Amino acid sequence: MTETKVKKTTAISALLEEGRRFDPPIHFTQNANIQDHSLYEEAAKDRERFWAKMAGELDWFEKWQTVLDWNPPHATWFAGGKLNASYNCLDRHIKNGLRNKAAIIWEGEPGDQRTLTYWDLYREVNQFANCLKKLGVKKGDRVAFYMPMIPELAIGLLACARIGAVHTVVFGGFSPDALRDRIQDAKAKVLVTADGGYRRGNLMPLKHDADLALRETPTIEHVIIVKRGDFPLHVKEGRDHWLHRLMQEAESYCEPEPMDAEDMLFILYTSGTTGKPKGIVHTTGGYLTGTYATSKYVFDLKQEDVFWCTADIGWITGHSYFLYGPMLNGATQIMYEGAPDWPDRDRFWELIEKYGVSIFYTAPTAIRAFMKWGAEWPERHDLRSLRLLGSVGEPINPEAWMWYHQHIGREACPIVDTWWQTETGSIMITSLPGVTSLKPGSATVPFPGIEAEILSEEGERIEEGGGYLVVKSPWPSMARGIYGDPERFQQQYWSKYKGVYFTGDGAKRDQDGYFWILGRVDDVINVSGHRISTMEVESALVDHHTVAEAAVIGIHHDLKGQAIAAFVTIKEGSDGNGKLEAVLRDHVAQKIGSIAKPEKIIFSADLPKTRSGKIMRRLLRDIAEGKALGDTTTLADPTVLEKLKRTYEE
Ligand code: WTA
Repeated sequence: MTETKVKKTTAISALLEEGRRFDPPIHFTQNANIQDHSLYEEAAKDRERFWAKMAGELDWFEKWQTVLDWNPPHATWFAGGKLNASYNCLDRHIKNGLRNKAAIIWEGEPGDQRTLTYWDLYREVNQFANCLKKLGVKKGDRVAFYMPMIPELAIGLLACARIGAVHTVVFGGFSPDALRDRIQDAKAKVLVTADGGYRRGNLMPLKHDADLALRETPTIEHVIIVKRGDFPLHVKEGRDHWLHRLMQEAESYCEPEPMDAEDMLFILYTSGTTGKPKGIVHTTGGYLTGTYATSKYVFDLKQEDVFWCTADIGWITGHSYFLYGPMLNGATQIMYEGAPDWPDRDRFWELIEKYGVSIFYTAPTAIRAFMKWGAEWPERHDLRSLRLLGSVGEPINPEAWMWYHQHIGREACPIVDTWWQTETGSIMITSLPGVTSLKPGSATVPFPGIEAEILSEEGERIEEGGGYLVVKSPWPSMARGIYGDPERFQQQYWSKYKGVYFTGDGAKRDQDGYFWILGRVDDVINVSGHRISTMEVESALVDHHTVAEAAVIGIHHDLKGQAIAAFVTIKEGSDGNGKLEAVLRDHVAQKIGSIAKPEKIIFSADLPKTRSGKIMRRLLRDIAEGKALGDTTTLADPTVLEKLKRTYEE
């Protein structure tokens, strides 16, 4: 199945080889929106024409004059065109027969439910938009959101889009300080929050936390509070307003603002695993075109589907594949407020069974947690409604892929492993589920119209092997900048190679032209001159039947320069006895070669992760080097670090 082989390449050694392949099931292909390679051919022939055709499937108040104007790093897509995002997500469906179709099927963590049809959503968005107007919000003003996953979040965002205000969502799990920094950076005029939300049976006191942030946010003129429960809070007269009261007085129709294709739609802050958060700017026409087209083809969306993207709207995945992409396609979607293990570890599977979810899109970190909890949880439920699965956010380890395929997909569903970033706006590297033959762990090939490549340090194209992942030509949903910091935008993404977008990820391409993402390039370890991707070593560890999760870092080594240290979480019920360390070291040697054998293995019950589930290797490096811990504000659970430090020092 796998071979031990070291390939010398100019940039990153690619060691792991995965031989399994899965063709799309015939009945899937026969019913798929795309059944052959014609879309790739069409896009390759004339990229701009292809994107213009996709854009043309949206409703424009005025058609564009030029498809693309490219002056790196500044792209103008669809110049002269005018459209409105909320009009495209709502009004056109109301007019085209989808008025009574369910748009959002929502379930709260305690089990309360709400279904909003496209008409319901349309009416609420119009009213919410009028509330914003009444508070003085105008086109171009920034409105911040600090909310639980409840329908009012989607309604509020579409209301901003309706009047041309710029939304900026701050994930509800972030601290008051993180909220303050983002409001300050965006100079937001209004904050929309809720009294609270539920998470693992606990209350997240959002308004209370927001009040702490609001002490230092002079630009905020008004606060809108959504009533989610009966949570105690302080209402500041004149500044704070209950949404339900504002809505009672709001007119039922609000004219959608005709937006220029390049007018700003939103800012979303991304912290990544290092450094100060960056406000990534997306504009209207190109972003909608990208999310619309990828939703339609990557998820093979049909009118009868029930689509569930589990991401919080606080992340780009929630923006692109809950709020905009599927809504532009008139899809029916699930929105769930709470945790996957509340009240029990089968909550997701229960929801899939109950609502007949047909397309399920989640992250490897969640899949690894499901693996750790065991297959008995999904086995309790009938998951036969599922026809397509998706993965996003990190490289998916082949063993996690296989588990997902077997236990959730019943070996009957294609898996789309979608590589993209906050900055790319929409999916860039992915299979098309009715067309592409899959290899577990590979995001496969660039989406039609996307020119992804792998380059060496010197900028030479790497046909086969590892290197830096770049995008060579502009695409409609690309970020237009970092809010207020054009230099950082240029520096971070456009300076390594001239006129080429640098993703910051390492990747390799195999003999079939498939892409394998190797993780962030700062997560590369240099062992005796071989640049080894942490991700490959992690996958080799997770391949062992006792291992649930692994994080690998480089530590100083006198001889080799760097050596590999691995933090490993074992599956529940497995025995992490003294022999396991040697067994795992040998397992890695056997999977990818002795060069990648970890010098040291530390067993740990948990790993430090960002709130979107990315492992913070930077902090593990600090622990390993006995250094003071760097910025920990984006950490999901700070107690994990203390425990780890103790284990490491033992
Ligand atoms: C990683 C999330 C491998 C990658 C949409 C990227 C992935 C970063 C994948 C962006 C994937 C995302 N396979 N790695 N399918 N998807 N990544 O901005 O390192 O939260 O650069 O966007 O996640 O994370 P972001």
